[in-house]
Amino acid sequence: MTATTQKSTKKESTRKKAKDFEPRILAFCCNWCSYAGADLAGTSRMQMPPNVRIIRVNCTGRIDPTFILDALYQGADGVLISGCHIGDCHYTSGNLKMRGRFVLLKKIIEDSGMDPQRVHLQWASAAEGAVFTEGVTSMVERIKKLGPNPVRRTD
Ligand code: FES
Repeated sequence: MTATTQKSTKKESTRKKAKDFEPRILAFCCNWCSYAGADLAGTSRMQMPPNVRIIRVNCTGRIDPTFILDALYQGADGVLISGCHIGDCHYTSGNLKMRGRFVLLKKIIEDSGMDPQRVHLQWASAAEGAVFTEGVTSMVERIKKLGPNPVRRTD
Protein backbone atom coordinates (compact mmCIF):
# COMPACT_ATOMS: atom_id res chain seq x y z
CA MET A 1 0.00 0.00 0.00
CA THR A 2 1.42 3.37 -0.99
CA ALA A 3 1.70 6.34 1.37
CA THR A 4 -0.98 8.21 -0.62
CA THR A 5 -3.38 5.28 -0.41
CA GLN A 6 -2.75 4.93 3.32
CA LYS A 7 -3.44 8.65 3.81
CA SER A 8 -6.72 8.54 1.88
CA THR A 9 -7.80 5.38 3.74
CA LYS A 10 -7.06 7.09 7.04
CA LYS A 11 -9.01 10.20 5.92
CA GLU A 12 -11.97 8.04 4.90
CA SER A 13 -11.87 6.26 8.24
CA THR A 14 -11.80 9.57 10.12
CA ARG A 15 -14.69 10.89 8.02
CA LYS A 16 -16.72 7.71 8.68
CA LYS A 17 -16.04 7.97 12.41
CA ALA A 18 -17.19 11.61 12.43
CA LYS A 19 -20.32 10.67 10.46
CA ASP A 20 -21.10 7.75 12.78
CA PHE A 21 -20.40 9.76 15.93
CA GLU A 22 -23.32 9.59 18.32
CA PRO A 23 -22.74 11.90 21.28
CA ARG A 24 -23.35 10.69 24.81
CA ILE A 25 -25.13 13.44 26.66
CA LEU A 26 -25.98 13.52 30.32
CA ALA A 27 -28.92 15.67 31.40
CA PHE A 28 -29.53 16.83 34.94
CA CYS A 29 -33.22 17.66 35.24
CA CYS A 30 -34.99 19.12 38.23
CA ASN A 31 -37.80 16.95 39.50
CA TRP A 32 -40.52 19.58 39.50
CA CYS A 33 -40.36 21.09 36.04
CA SER A 34 -37.89 19.74 33.51
CA TYR A 35 -38.12 16.08 34.47
CA ALA A 36 -41.89 16.35 34.15
CA GLY A 37 -41.36 18.19 30.84
CA ALA A 38 -39.14 15.36 29.60
CA ASP A 39 -41.79 12.89 30.73
CA LEU A 40 -44.46 14.86 28.86
CA ALA A 41 -42.28 14.80 25.73
CA GLY A 42 -42.09 11.01 26.06
CA THR A 43 -45.77 10.41 26.72
CA SER A 44 -46.68 12.81 23.88
CA ARG A 45 -44.38 10.81 21.59
CA MET A 46 -42.34 13.85 20.59
CA GLN A 47 -39.34 13.01 18.44
CA MET A 48 -36.06 13.35 20.29
CA PRO A 49 -32.58 11.96 19.65
CA PRO A 50 -31.85 8.94 21.89
CA ASN A 51 -28.46 10.30 22.96
CA VAL A 52 -29.49 11.61 26.36
CA ARG A 53 -29.44 9.91 29.74
CA ILE A 54 -31.35 11.79 32.41
CA ILE A 55 -30.42 12.15 36.04
CA ARG A 56 -33.27 13.51 38.13
CA VAL A 57 -32.35 15.94 40.90
CA ASN A 58 -34.69 17.74 43.24
CA CYS A 59 -33.58 21.16 42.05
CA THR A 60 -30.87 22.58 39.79
CA GLY A 61 -29.58 24.27 42.95
CA ARG A 62 -28.60 20.77 44.11
CA ILE A 63 -26.22 20.31 41.19
CA ASP A 64 -22.67 20.66 42.38
CA PRO A 65 -20.45 21.92 39.54
CA THR A 66 -18.18 18.94 40.21
CA PHE A 67 -21.02 16.67 38.95
CA ILE A 68 -20.72 18.29 35.54
CA LEU A 69 -16.93 18.34 35.49
CA ASP A 70 -16.89 14.72 36.61
CA ALA A 71 -19.29 13.73 33.81
CA LEU A 72 -17.08 15.43 31.22
CA TYR A 73 -13.88 13.94 32.63
CA GLN A 74 -15.55 10.51 32.65
CA GLY A 75 -16.19 10.92 28.93
CA ALA A 76 -19.65 12.44 28.46
CA ASP A 77 -19.65 14.44 25.23
CA GLY A 78 -22.00 17.03 26.65
CA VAL A 79 -23.97 17.90 29.75
CA LEU A 80 -27.39 19.51 29.74
CA ILE A 81 -28.86 21.14 32.84
CA SER A 82 -32.56 21.78 32.75
CA GLY A 83 -34.64 23.38 35.45
CA CYS A 84 -37.62 25.54 36.33
CA HIS A 85 -37.94 28.97 34.80
CA ILE A 86 -36.58 31.86 36.85
CA GLY A 87 -39.22 32.70 39.44
CA ASP A 88 -40.73 29.19 39.36
CA CYS A 89 -38.14 27.23 41.37
CA HIS A 90 -39.89 25.15 44.02
CA TYR A 91 -37.07 26.01 46.41
CA THR A 92 -37.29 29.71 45.55
CA SER A 93 -33.73 30.37 44.44
CA GLY A 94 -32.12 27.07 43.39
CA ASN A 95 -32.17 27.96 39.71
CA LEU A 96 -30.71 31.40 40.46
CA LYS A 97 -27.84 29.69 42.28
CA MET A 98 -27.35 27.34 39.32
CA ARG A 99 -27.36 30.26 36.89
CA GLY A 100 -24.58 31.92 38.90
CA ARG A 101 -22.54 28.73 39.12
CA PHE A 102 -23.00 28.06 35.42
CA VAL A 103 -21.07 31.19 34.43
CA LEU A 104 -18.10 30.03 36.50
CA LEU A 105 -18.49 26.46 35.31
CA LYS A 106 -18.20 27.48 31.66
CA LYS A 107 -15.05 29.41 32.47
CA ILE A 108 -13.52 26.40 34.26
CA ILE A 109 -14.39 24.15 31.31
CA GLU A 110 -12.85 26.62 28.87
CA ASP A 111 -9.73 27.01 31.01
CA SER A 112 -9.31 23.24 31.12
CA GLY A 113 -9.16 23.15 27.33
CA MET A 114 -12.64 21.93 26.51
CA ASP A 115 -15.18 23.78 24.45
CA PRO A 116 -17.71 25.41 26.85
CA GLN A 117 -20.45 24.62 24.32
CA ARG A 118 -20.33 21.10 25.71
CA VAL A 119 -22.51 22.31 28.57
CA HIS A 120 -25.88 23.96 28.26
CA LEU A 121 -28.35 25.40 30.75
CA GLN A 122 -32.01 25.69 29.87
CA TRP A 123 -35.32 26.31 31.57
CA ALA A 124 -38.28 24.09 30.74
CA SER A 125 -41.50 23.81 32.70
CA ALA A 126 -43.56 20.64 33.21
CA ALA A 127 -45.84 21.79 30.38
CA GLU A 128 -42.94 22.44 27.99
CA GLY A 129 -42.14 19.02 26.60
CA ALA A 130 -41.44 20.67 23.25
CA VAL A 131 -38.93 23.07 24.82
CA PHE A 132 -37.12 20.16 26.44
CA THR A 133 -37.11 18.25 23.15
CA GLU A 134 -35.77 21.26 21.23
CA GLY A 135 -33.03 21.74 23.84
CA VAL A 136 -31.93 18.12 23.51
CA THR A 137 -32.09 18.16 19.71
CA SER A 138 -30.05 21.34 19.35
CA MET A 139 -27.53 20.09 21.89
CA VAL A 140 -27.04 16.82 20.00
CA GLU A 141 -26.53 18.75 16.75
CA ARG A 142 -24.05 21.13 18.41
CA ILE A 143 -22.05 18.30 19.99
CA LYS A 144 -22.00 16.37 16.71
CA LYS A 145 -20.31 19.39 15.12
CA LEU A 146 -17.80 19.62 17.98
CA GLY A 147 -16.98 15.91 17.76
CA PRO A 148 -16.23 13.49 20.60
CA ASN A 149 -15.07 14.77 23.95
CA PRO A 150 -11.27 14.84 23.75
CA VAL A 151 -11.03 13.05 27.08
CA ARG A 152 -13.58 10.40 26.07
CA ARG A 153 -12.59 6.85 26.84
CA THR A 154 -12.41 4.51 23.90
CA ASP A 155 -13.59 1.39 25.79
S1 FES B 1 -37.06 23.12 41.71
FE1 FES B 1 -36.69 23.24 39.58
S2 FES B 1 -34.94 24.49 39.47
FE2 FES B 1 -35.38 24.46 41.58
